[in-house]
Amino acid sequence: MTKSTFHIGLKSSDVKDVTVAILPGDPGRVPKIAKHLDEAVLLANHREFHSMKGTYKGVTALVISTGIGGPSAAICVEELAMLGITRFLRVGTTGAIQDHIEPGDIIVPTAAVRLDGASTHIAPLAFPAVADFAMVQSIRDALVLANVKHHIGIVASSDTFYQGQSRTDSFRKGFVHEALGNRFEDMKALNVLSFEMECATVLTQCAAYGLSAAAVLGVLVNRNRTEFPDETVGKQTEERVIQAALASLAKL
Ligand code: URA
Repeated sequence: MTKSTFHIGLKSSDVKDVTVAILPGDPGRVPKIAKHLDEAVLLANHREFHSMKGTYKGVTALVISTGIGGPSAAICVEELAMLGITRFLRVGTTGAIQDHIEPGDIIVPTAAVRLDGASTHIAPLAFPAVADFAMVQSIRDALVLANVKHHIGIVASSDTFYQGQSRTDSFRKGFVHEALGNRFEDMKALNVLSFEMECATVLTQCAAYGLSAAAVLGVLVNRNRTEFPDETVGKQTEERVIQAALASLAKL
């Protein structure tokens, strides 16, 4: 593709040597990841899609933000796939719902519960939002080697941060409509590890397209104890998940 793609503003020539796209949600996290790369260059800043490229231990990586939620993540993955990228590593944050998981821990999803809407535009709900097995294994090996506390299992991805994740401390204090009311307890009872907002879309899309995707998620908060993260813990968790992603990168 010689022209730049519509939303992310990249051309095939920008990414021709890239072996993996690292996908944070937050544009502000792109330079925080790229500062650990050699020969990092800025590629584009379009809307929520900020991109940089560099190498880490010989691996050429694109770092590009997806924005929050499935719809913008789906655009990002779609256009990267059009440019020839085949491997995707989401680097994000998450809210744990199991009692034993602590802020700062890392979660590696094997799959995501599809509570989003965007993934239903890609494949019917019966299709699994499943991570690439080899990538999950490599990430696990890297985290074990680096002695990083982590949990491997199923996460749930919701289109909304508040109602869809059963948060009642929002504008309409205490009210979440009936169909979503028991979501927290349901997911917890089903052994889901945490809530986040993009994995279901990215994992469904890549599995359905024959591409590889996985994620590393830093735990910001344990929802059994508090609704919102502490700022210091948030900063520490962000650095921990970036380090977990970089450790994984060399093994992918
Ligand atoms: N991201 C989410 O979507 N939920 C949380 O609780 C934390 C991060």
